[in-house]
Amino acid sequence: MNYIGSKLKLCSDFLPQTISSTCGNDLSNCTFCDIFAGTGIVGRTFKSKVKKVISNDIEYYSYILNKNYIENHRPIENKAKYIEELNSIPLVDDGFIYKNYCLGGSGERQYFSDYNGKKIDSARKKIESWLCEQSIDYNLYYYLLCSLLESADKVANTASVYGAYLKKLKKSAQQELVIQGAEFEINENQHIVYQMDANELIKEISGDILYLDPPYNARQYGANYHLLNTIAEYKPFEPRGKTGLRSYTKSKYCSKNTVKEEFEFLIKNANFKYIFLSYNNEGLMTVDEIESIMGKYGHYDLAQTSYQRFKADSNRFNKSDSTIEYLHILTK
Ligand SMILES: C[S@@+](CC[C@H](N)C(=O)[O-])C[C@H]1O[C@@H](n2cnc3c(N)ncnc32)[C@H](O)[C@@H]1O
Repeated sequence: MNYIGSKLKLCSDFLPQTISSTCGNDLSNCTFCDIFAGTGIVGRTFKSKVKKVISNDIEYYSYILNKNYIENHRPIENKAKYIEELNSIPLVDDGFIYKNYCLGGSGERQYFSDYNGKKIDSARKKIESWLCEQSIDYNLYYYLLCSLLESADKVANTASVYGAYLKKLKKSAQQELVIQGAEFEINENQHIVYQMDANELIKEISGDILYLDPPYNARQYGANYHLLNTIAEYKPFEPRGKTGLRSYTKSKYCSKNTVKEEFEFLIKNANFKYIFLSYNNEGLMTVDEIESIMGKYGHYDLAQTSYQRFKADSNRFNKSDSTIEYLHILTK
């Protein structure tokens, strides 16, 4: 998924290499926590390297992604058959997405083509009815829901996030939605996924490596990805305004007034030996501010790399295509 602040590219080298050079090459006895997990790519990178991944994010869509990618770790029988069935069910035209977020149903909003909106509704309802009648278990439920979210996101008619839709259907949004299985890694170990405020969860967990990737700026994820929460939850509400926004959680990491206090609370209460913080050079906290907070609680170090800017952030105000991505390191 194309996600604000995704660490997909950093996961091939920079993150695993820097973490290994600090904590050692053999992490097989480690508990690794990805407490601002988003798409889950960082936890997925470490799933086979460590004993246990703890994954968390405040957003429900992220919880669904990670329940599948992180917590699912044993083979699921016949999962391809269910995906096939979802791709061939008759379309309904009385679903929430079609009625509120497609041109044919809402008369204005166009986050999806009419066909794709109806298909999302049909598939979403089917997944829920399978769960209710107990023909699937929760492992398969999260696999199917995650597959639907990932596949729907690919045909969304947006520039990149769901803060607004495009007037005309773009090319990729004209494609018919085909639900593809969101495959997860099979592995022996058990992992755990939460949907909590990081500052609450931190008081309840402990481990070896804590990876922090909070929002850098004022953009709230709940507003930018509201439609993913709507598909994931699938409970009716009154969509607001032109964009059909729902009520959403406001993170204190997205405000200049609250971020430092929030961050220091997290560092202070973290019962982990190593803490890594990803943050870029355009974030609400400066490098010096972060160093002075982290430095109070142990030995501080800094690694950095240049990074390709997120697509939606390249505009006339941001001339350079790349930013510096810092990895702040604390050994407690
Ligand atoms: C920069 S993104 C993480 C991206 C992730 N590492 C990835 O590669 O996909 C920040 C994440 O923090 C989450 N978040 C914001 N405030 C939070 C809070 N107080 N507690 C937990 N998660 C929060 C957002 O929902 C978002 O998914």
